Amino acid sequence: MRIAIPKETVSSEPRVAGTPDTVKRLKALGADVVVEPGAGLASGMLDADFVAAGATISADAVRDADVVLKVRRPTAAEAAGYRRGALVLATMDPYGNEAALGELARTGIATFAMELMPRITRAQVMDILSSQANLAGYRAVIDASSEFGRAMPMMMTAAGTVPAARVFVMGAGVAGLQAIATARRLGAVVTATDVRPAAKEQVESLGAKFVAVMDDEFRQAETAAGYAKPMSAEYQAKQAALVAEHIAKQDIVITTALIPGRPAPRLVTAAMVASMKAGSVIMDLAVERGGNVEGASAGEVVTTANGVTIIGHLNVPGRLAATSSSLYAKNLYAFLEIMIDKASKALSVPWDDELVKATLLTRDGAVVHPSFKDAVPPPAPAPAAPVVETPAEVEAAPAEPAGAKRKAAPKKTTTS
Ligand code: NAI
Repeated sequence: MRIAIPKETVSSEPRVAGTPDTVKRLKALGADVVVEPGAGLASGMLDADFVAAGATISADAVRDADVVLKVRRPTAAEAAGYRRGALVLATMDPYGNEAALGELARTGIATFAMELMPRITRAQVMDILSSQANLAGYRAVIDASSEFGRAMPMMMTAAGTVPAARVFVMGAGVAGLQAIATARRLGAVVTATDVRPAAKEQVESLGAKFVAVMDDEFRQAETAAGYAKPMSAEYQAKQAALVAEHIAKQDIVITTALIPGRPAPRLVTAAMVASMKAGSVIMDLAVERGGNVEGASAGEVVTTANGVTIIGHLNVPGRLAATSSSLYAKNLYAFLEIMIDKASKALSVPWDDELVKATLLTRDGAVVHPSFKDAVPPPAPAPAAPVVETPAEVEAAPAEPAGAKRKAAPKKTTTS
């Protein structure tokens, strides 16, 4: 059983899907672990650390591997270098990327989308959304406070009293709750909002004040899985009015609101941004999914005309790559462990296990996940072979109308 840990190919991705710690654990389960040179460097892990844990280092790590552990979905070109039938565990980002899933499926690999892991007790240790969102929430407060030109806690000094910063967290899921806890630890006065009723008690238990329109719709706004439901236009208008009044008094706003499989809801309008004081900071953690904040720009820090800084960092967990890699690698290890037979020390995937069924996207050449298989477009037709005309055919062909040119079929290129 050979397990590969390649270096991520996206330059903006510093995380790595295995660590010396998980290498040791995989070795103990009977695996040979092969790591690509430099795979852990951006997460503060040297090749020598992996070797000390029992791995070998090879530029060909993925070739012949039975399992490939990745942070990001591999491109079809990457997957073409994997063994047919190899198991690939990664953040697959499947929503809206069905064409890419189709291409991956055709390489014959079995891919598992770690973000589709059911949120049940048994799978908590495999929950990459929680492990990464928790760190993003923490880092959002650190990043926002470093852009904020004032102190976070109240300070009483001989030279005068410094007021505590006011921090408002929008969306009190995993990231939001950690942002609340972090801002409280730094001494800020914290308020938070969410559309899920259960969030109220959690927010209050962290010492923050809950701000929301608590009508009948709010009391029913939670799915059985614990996720937010899209709210009615009427509720959104009432909530926006309450939030607009509140936001104008805040120093830092951190937005984390997401609805699975949909674009992020717009929570902060340009008018709300315009109402804030100069020097205020907004951090939009949903910027990669369309953004909660009007004016946020993915990958940029923008300062508005009225002096508000809007942070749109991408891959916030990657900004603490050593910590996020170590938790992510543990999540992957825990899932892979259920696919390894301890006695024979060989791979033995329990295809009927609910965790396997919930996460398996592609297998045996096809997209198999019920939520995505019907949305996969058919493969693009192969480019037509160029027609080479002989001089005799050119003479025999009817004259083309003026201006018309014969075009070769466009060449398809693959992008991720
Ligand atoms: P998420 O990342 O999907 O969304 C973040 C937060 O934004 C959520 O709390 C959501 O309710 C909120 N939100 C969505 N639209 C909003 C709007 N218009 N205004 C204000 N807030 C809005 O959520 P996350 O962090 O993944 O957590 C979702 C649920 O899953 C929570 O109930 C959480 O407690 C639960 N969970 C359960 C776990 C388990 O193993 N049992 C593990 C982790 C989370």
